[in-house]
Amino acid sequence: MKALEITNLKKSFSSNFFLKKYDILKSINMNVERGEIYGFLGPNGAGKTTTIKCILGLIFPDYGNILINNRPAHSPEIRQKLGFLPENPTFYDYLTAGELLLFSARLFSIPSKKSSEVIKNLIPMVGLDGKENVKLKNFSRGMIQRIGFAQALINDPDIVILDEPFSGLDPIGRKELRNIIIALKKKGKTVFFSSHILQDMELIADKVGIIFNGEIIKEGKLSELVSHSVQYYELIFSNIDESRIRANNLSFECKEENYIIRSPEIDELNRVIEFVILNRGKIISVTPTKMTLEDIFLREIK
Ligand SMILES: Nc1ncnc2c1ncn2[C@@H]1O[C@H](COP(=O)(O)OP(=O)(O)OP(=O)(O)O)[C@@H](O)[C@H]1O
Ligand SMILES: [Mg+2]
Repeated sequence: MKALEITNLKKSFSSNFFLKKYDILKSINMNVERGEIYGFLGPNGAGKTTTIKCILGLIFPDYGNILINNRPAHSPEIRQKLGFLPENPTFYDYLTAGELLLFSARLFSIPSKKSSEVIKNLIPMVGLDGKENVKLKNFSRGMIQRIGFAQALINDPDIVILDEPFSGLDPIGRKELRNIIIALKKKGKTVFFSSHILQDMELIADKVGIIFNGEIIKEGKLSELVSHSVQYYELIFSNIDESRIRANNLSFECKEENYIIRSPEIDELNRVIEFVILNRGKIISVTPTKMTLEDIFLREIK
């Protein structure tokens, strides 16, 4: 079952005096399954926030269709079950963290008894234990990000949309946020988040959509994108005279007592292994080196 389905989404903006239109989203198609963590990856200015604003109904697309749980994204019942953390969130400086969450709970008409219970659970979950009564003007950038994440969860949403949730967080904060996102998935929630921090995406996303210049240039299960991308096999061996390796025209590197041969082809690798065995060499390891998400991303945007 699809949590989010975007078909042929287009958006242009006019940004100069002569009202010349620029196509910002050129024809976006995306599918997010229920219960999955979807990473929306793209460089600055690619169109991530614009897509997210269209999903949330904050701006209107020129063309295309957006369905959430098989219903139009703009229907009020659907929006009741959406959570959203904007890029660079800013809140009222003079509210305390607790007051902000109470305010958000009221917007969702959550009864006050239930909201204090929800807030009591959310504050420690986002690592702001003991900060409930601190005014937001005294919060650091990372703390604002954390409270923003808490307000995105106040209505116990089915789908959580996070625009650059990792920005401004230190490594510990990023790890904590990754754990919270994984915990949400375990509860059956769908998480859609944008980022250009590839490492975080690689660690938690089930599926990745890569946007570049307003177009989705690749979409797929992270496991498939990465596993089909063996770059080369690395064979490490020893106990063979160097002259024999040279005589076989094999290019190699030496590291301490060992030789390293990298081969992009499995057949070629097998021939080298055969050579090592025939020459009574000792195989130490054979490792397939896969492309990282970063390699795939760089390859695709080239
Ligand atoms: N309201 C607007 N009017 C004119 N141009 C806009 C408007 N909003 C966005 N754009 C342009 O659309 C393009 C995509 O912007 P968007 O904010 O969606 O990128 P992004 O992928 O979220 O980038 P970042 O990683 O920097 O957040 C940019 O070139 C931006 O200048
Ligand atoms: Mg953005």
